[in-house]
Amino acid sequence: MLDSLHAHYALLGLHREAEIQGLRLVFALMRKLSDTDAQIELARQAADEARHLWMLERRLAELRATLSFPARQPMTLRPLAIGKDSGDTLAAACALKQRALLRYTASLPGLDREAAELREAIAADEKTHLAWFARRLARARPSPDCSPRIERFLEAEDAAFAAVSGA
Ligand SMILES: [Fe+2]
Repeated sequence: MLDSLHAHYALLGLHREAEIQGLRLVFALMRKLSDTDAQIELARQAADEARHLWMLERRLAELRATLSFPARQPMTLRPLAIGKDSGDTLAAACALKQRALLRYTASLPGLDREAAELREAIAADEKTHLAWFARRLARARPSPDCSPRIERFLEAEDAAFAAVSGA
């Protein structure tokens, strides 16, 4: 239940961390996928993710100003392994994107209007990113050892989301 500005701050902070991880994966894929379609799409996604981060930072700054928070909260998300080849990196990107979309669209009682509008706008982009990653992943062959790494990230993310959302 997001019944306070502190709770909103924590939720948006978690979204911010996921955006940073999303950017890491996009940059990694830019080095691993050399075809023109990938380069153009990933450049667009990098722009989208940077804009999401900017939107979240602006709202976090407003909340910090209102509540006199410290400048930065500690990072809580486990780093998601990038993977050694493009298949592993695509699998990680797909998992992160699916999870991010789930979080941005989760029903959260008590969400304020600013957070709701921000989450809705970002979710629309994440949906198109996920569709592209899923298409590329369908043609790739991730290594068997990437699944446990992704699972460990998702379990830690579950705990972090439960802690900030009261779920
Ligand atoms: Fe994003």
